Amino acid sequence: MTLAAIILAAGKGTRMKSALPKVLHPIAGKPMVAHVVAAARALDPGSITVVYGHGGDQVRDTLADDSLGWALQAEQLGTGHAVAQAMPSVAEETVLILYGDVPLIRPETLRAFVDRVDPQTLALMTLTMDDPSGYGRIIRDADGRVQRIVEQKDASDAEKAVKEINTGILACSRAFLDQALPRLSSNNAQGEYYLTDIIAMAVEDGLAVEAMQPEHAWEVDGVNDRVQLARLERIYQQVQAERLMRGGATVLDPARLDLRGDISCGSDVVLDVNVVLAGTVRIGNNVHIGANCHITDADIDDGAVIAPNSVIEGARVGAGCQVGPFARLRPGTDLAAGAKVGNFVETKKAVVGEGSKINHLTYIGDATIGKDVNVGAGTITCNYDGVNKFQTVMEDGAFIGSNSSLVAPVTVGRNATVGAGSTVTRDVAEDELAVARGKQRNIGGWKRPQKKD
Ligand code: UD1
Ligand code: CA
Repeated sequence: MTLAAIILAAGKGTRMKSALPKVLHPIAGKPMVAHVVAAARALDPGSITVVYGHGGDQVRDTLADDSLGWALQAEQLGTGHAVAQAMPSVAEETVLILYGDVPLIRPETLRAFVDRVDPQTLALMTLTMDDPSGYGRIIRDADGRVQRIVEQKDASDAEKAVKEINTGILACSRAFLDQALPRLSSNNAQGEYYLTDIIAMAVEDGLAVEAMQPEHAWEVDGVNDRVQLARLERIYQQVQAERLMRGGATVLDPARLDLRGDISCGSDVVLDVNVVLAGTVRIGNNVHIGANCHITDADIDDGAVIAPNSVIEGARVGAGCQVGPFARLRPGTDLAAGAKVGNFVETKKAVVGEGSKINHLTYIGDATIGKDVNVGAGTITCNYDGVNKFQTVMEDGAFIGSNSSLVAPVTVGRNATVGAGSTVTRDVAEDELAVARGKQRNIGGWKRPQKKD
């Protein structure tokens, strides 16, 4: 059967106390509604329609690339009214209803859930809770068959004692929704069109209502304020850390690792505390990442060591490289196997050959460095004249003395040497020594200035 997903996201989210719409608040760096879209997308539905509200243009703009359908619900008249706004854009046979503020629902759960739906069966995601207050309660008959849902504000004391609640996630045939939604009324404690009233209608129409509970309660947890947001963030991170550990990575403290993207890890990787991995990060085998490293969109090959407090973005780190502590690799950095980039070194658009060393206090930008080059402490590539960027080339075996400035465009040839403290403005040919600094004068008998009385 063809499937349509409808994501409800028109609620105001007042309790977030934020100018940002609630569903755009991130979990693991990604808007929570985008997590819901991804879970729905995994079922390969024919359409996904997001119901958005007043000021929800920001939501549309943020998800513009996602090929979603949009339905405006200008006034929040209830969940039933919200679903009705999306129905004109639904042509599929089965409809799955999700909440934009319930971000951790897993595709596996949704797949099993949707599989229960047929023209005669409506599926309802429920949860048994110790403290059900605030939620709609699932009312069953003496044989345990679901009869209806009663909202907290409309419930009798006996109904309030029921611990099985409605999560809001529901799936049924479009045909049933098409005839049930127009029958909803707002004659209830909140004056809203409750989607939940369709359960009693389904029973009346002779449909079976199948309740299913998720494997983990957190899958159906909603976010209403920033405390709940932080709680779901921690749950998400714990799950991700466990995934890496099961895959063969040692995580020294799963509570102090944050994964914000698409992260893959080989075996025998060690991740020390306070590591943040974001974007697309691929880590090979036997990689060690020290404490407080922030790594975004990077490839780190087997055996590399990233020492503490390093920041890496848009870079490749080859096998067996050593980076840091306190290194900053910016986009376009490509370190070949065995290269070393040490403390207080910044690189940008820098291709570094095998075994080359840039160990201390250096800036390398727009540069190509060959094999076994030694870049001394304090070397600066002067790549920018205020308008344009220029290239610096250091060929295989070059040796750059400490505290040198290489004014690009410039090439230091194979096995050439630059004397310490040089400002190099012209190319240095193979095997040459370039010394470009003031000549030292020593003045004998020098008297220092004296203090006046
Ligand atoms: C709803 C359910 C309740 C369930 C609870 C689970 C109804 C009537 N009640 O209650 O049984 O236990 O969720 O959290 O369905 N929304 C819109 N437009 C609206 C109203 C809501 O898009 O006019 C969206 C919200 O953005 C949110 C979701 O629907 O994503 C649920 O809305 P919320 O107000 O939280 O529903 P509850 O009253 O808590
Ligand atoms: Ca709610």
